[in-house]
Amino acid sequence: MDKIRIRGGKPLSGEIVIGGAKNAGLPLMAAGLLTDERLVLSNVPHLADIRTMQELVAQHGVAVEPVGTDGRTVAIGGEITNSVAPYDIVRKMRASVFVLGPLVARAGEAKVSLPGGCAIGNRPIDLHIKGLEAMGAEIVLEGGYVQARAPKGLHGARIAFPFVSVGATENLLMAAALAEGRTELVNAAREPEICDLAHCLVAMGAQIEGIGTAHLVVEGVKRLHGAEHAIIPDRIECGTYACAAAITGGDLFLRGGRLDHLGALVKALREAGVDIDETPQGLHVRRRAGLHGADVMTEPYPGFATDMQAQYMALMCVCDGAALITETIFENRFMHVPELNRMGARINVHGSSAIVRGVPQLSGAPVMATDLRASFSLVLAGLAAQGETTVNRVYHLDRGYEAVEQKLAACGADIERIPG
Ligand code: UD1
Repeated sequence: MDKIRIRGGKPLSGEIVIGGAKNAGLPLMAAGLLTDERLVLSNVPHLADIRTMQELVAQHGVAVEPVGTDGRTVAIGGEITNSVAPYDIVRKMRASVFVLGPLVARAGEAKVSLPGGCAIGNRPIDLHIKGLEAMGAEIVLEGGYVQARAPKGLHGARIAFPFVSVGATENLLMAAALAEGRTELVNAAREPEICDLAHCLVAMGAQIEGIGTAHLVVEGVKRLHGAEHAIIPDRIECGTYACAAAITGGDLFLRGGRLDHLGALVKALREAGVDIDETPQGLHVRRRAGLHGADVMTEPYPGFATDMQAQYMALMCVCDGAALITETIFENRFMHVPELNRMGARINVHGSSAIVRGVPQLSGAPVMATDLRASFSLVLAGLAAQGETTVNRVYHLDRGYEAVEQKLAACGADIERIPG
């Protein structure tokens, strides 16, 4: 297993290009199952999760082919010859469940392995299942699989989510695009990735109103056609590198970054003393003076993203004063805390809140990555720490961050991957 070694204490300076959004690319690839024509996606990031989704879509019989020479454009399309999403692929990545809605909507059936829990919590998919049932699918859970059938096709329904779910909104939005009649998704998630998916579906011929709001109305169509779509820049990668500039007292230009996608993170970073300016090409992030503690609570977009909680916590470890960080989306998302404390941080967890008391300096240590975003919080701590940090189990990092060592080293970080 590869490791990453960092010798901390170097302020970062330079430019980092923000890649396409992982969490937009994953449902967009599943959307390729909704048509037999070619869906051409550009700005596809080079990430392990994206490769897993390509593998999954391809094993349904649909062609997934590179287009052009940029290495970041793929075409998806063709007949569905197999509607089974096997355990071997789904266990690698929960987002595999995105194929459920498109398969039932287009092929009338799907058999998708239940994803099970993951490091950050239990993560059921009951909302996906209830929504598809409301649209007429017959669903049984058997042998660890969700088996869904809608031989006569899906029909529209009014689905009011009891709480906001990104994945359920995306799955049902895709299914609704090909259902007969009108579907309303009430209390829908409105993350930028959902808007991106909705815009792509519209380009494929779907009829969707209310994009960007919590109330989506979809008028189903008989078939969708091919389209070309560029994936939005990854707001979590952008926010993560903004924290890297801040924690090292550096100055970074994040090419492709968008202020409007960062939601509540911008307010928190500014309150903490970080300068963020937007230009048409990206974001300029720098910290000239000390960092102050600023409290945050994770919430659905446009609230503070749970996917930024661990990285922001690393930043708060070296603030003046303290910060209260409350996690409301996942029940077990503080696994980075003991690792950060091993590096000299002073964090106490009380239920779903963590109080971070700033320390003047972190110190390097061997640490263990536990999940994707937690991994980067350890990299951030390592960049700021005195001495050497080794982050073990970096395969978590590779699921969602492209070329981390190259991007950081190009801005002055002393960082290297040690293959293992
Ligand atoms: C997506 C993101 C993930 C992010 C999360 C919250 C992708 C591929 N992943 O995950 O990076 O952290 O949004 O912003 O886009 N829940 C249920 N039943 C369901 C569905 C969800 O109880 O059927 C719960 C979850 O356990 C969680 C909460 O709802 O507590 C929100 O989860 P959800 O928004 O669905 O997250 P994901 O779509 O899995």
